[in-house]
Amino acid sequence: MSADTPLPMLGGLSAADFLGQYWQRKPLLIRGAFPDLESPLSPDELAGLACEEGIEARLVEEHGRDNQGSPKPWQVSHGPFDEATFARLPERDWTLLVQAVDHYVPVVADLLEAFSFLPRWRLDDIMISYAPPGGSVGPHVDQYDVFLLQASGQRRWQLGGAVDEDAPIIDGIDLRILEHFEVMPDQDWVLEPGDMLYLPPGHAHHGVSQSEDCMTLSVGFRALSADESVTSFADYMGETLPASLRYSDAGMTPPTDPGELNDEALERMRRLILDTLDDPAQLAQWFGRAMTQPKYVDQLVPQEEPTPVDELAAELEAGGHLERTLGSRFAWRALDDTQATLFVDGDGLPCEMGLARALASQASIDAELLAYPGAASLLAGLLDRGSLSWPADEMEDDA
Ligand code: SIN
Ligand code: CO
Repeated sequence: MSADTPLPMLGGLSAADFLGQYWQRKPLLIRGAFPDLESPLSPDELAGLACEEGIEARLVEEHGRDNQGSPKPWQVSHGPFDEATFARLPERDWTLLVQAVDHYVPVVADLLEAFSFLPRWRLDDIMISYAPPGGSVGPHVDQYDVFLLQASGQRRWQLGGAVDEDAPIIDGIDLRILEHFEVMPDQDWVLEPGDMLYLPPGHAHHGVSQSEDCMTLSVGFRALSADESVTSFADYMGETLPASLRYSDAGMTPPTDPGELNDEALERMRRLILDTLDDPAQLAQWFGRAMTQPKYVDQLVPQEEPTPVDELAAELEAGGHLERTLGSRFAWRALDDTQATLFVDGDGLPCEMGLARALASQASIDAELLAYPGAASLLAGLLDRGSLSWPADEMEDDA
């Protein structure tokens, strides 16, 4: 598929048009983006996930109560929840939000295929919300690009335009709700199942459930802040720099005032920092690791025993295949014409380029990949660290 092919999920825009005109720039409402969409989960199934240990879930009650039972507007509580929590909730004005449902539910992860017109390593997760009528999380701004896909019921979305980062928010609550929210003309829609709203970062929005069964999927894309990038890259570089590489003022002229930090000193330090950091090869190694860091490190479950490489190869030769563990992140970057670095869950591994490309795509991980030198031991290593897994049914067969 070329970048100019019209995509129904983008309302007939091509990937090139969407990226050129809307991505990171302006909102786009797409009616019928996923015309046959059926909600991948029921409200009960979502509530079930929110009761599980280790799954990030929040409950937002517009007219909640604090621990002492006193009224507390916009009360946020964090999971895991239990049945008693859901039993005490009123008939309206609350929202349940569950993060990273794509890590737990394969049919939700399958939806990501439709977003392949974006770099996969930009993805954060798919959050799913459920709300009875009136439920919302208040008018707010996110720093992420998000596609808000209506999965069931109706939600009214109102947009308030681009908002400065320091726009005032309501004091004393655990949500960042905007103090002022004014709906822009013509930016007020009720989304039906299959409709989708794209929002760039920094755009005020307010979504209120209009039905008993309102479920919304938020396909979120993250971008590192300058703050995180600088700190994290400097940390990465710090591990490789020799202690002997230092500020140096060999050949300096005598200072006019020994107490002054003069321009020459400042320039020497500026050069030391910029020259040290300006290393494209190291930047690539850091960037790949940073963008494939797992969202939840605990979710990577390493194997207790290392996989024998010949057994893994035999299993694949016999028709087996491996799967990318849901939530695992893969990316690659060329080193030269044939070699690449495969980035997996925060690590970087030297790899044949064809193998790296295949692993960082949706291609099947089967015996065909064994044609690449070193493939079996690389796959065994990825299995051992939990980034790849055998399909659940094959594991049962083995047991
Ligand atoms: C929701 O699904 O209720 C909120 C999503 C959002 O506004 O980011
Ligand atoms: Co939002």
